[in-house]
Amino acid sequence: MKKVVLLVAITGFIGAFSAAQAADAVAGKSKAKTCAGCHGQNGISNNDNWPNLAGQKKGYLVKQLKDFRSGVRKDGQMSYWAKSLKDVDIENIAEYFSKLK
Ligand code: HEC
Repeated sequence: MKKVVLLVAITGFIGAFSAAQAADAVAGKSKAKTCAGCHGQNGISNNDNWPNLAGQKKGYLVKQLKDFRSGVRKDGQMSYWAKSLKDVDIENIAEYFSKLK
């Protein structure tokens, strides 16, 4: 009996933990409002100078945003925008754009 209780407790804990870890596309969408001016409402830009983000690989988006933030990748516009993003924002925003078609 004790073993069962313990097992339930452990699975519950793991479940809660992985839910907290999962990137949140809804939060990403709300954070991405400021990006829409350039990258488009649905991640499709309407200007040759601004890349589309919709459907881009999540890992790539995360890396680019971190590189802009750290200064490894530089752009007059993007470096500014990336500076205000926390790790969790980057994860969520990347999750959101990678899920768009
Ligand atoms: C003022 C316009 C502008 C805004 C606002 C803006 N970006 Fe950008 N973004 C750009 C430009 C221009 C580039 C291309 C930079 C370059 O040529 O290196 C870019 C590039 C990127 C890239 C790399 C794309 C690739 O294919 O390599 C990502 C990811 C990105 N932006 C995400 C965002 C996010 C997330 C936000 C909102 C927090 C945002 N951008 C807000 C103009 C903007």
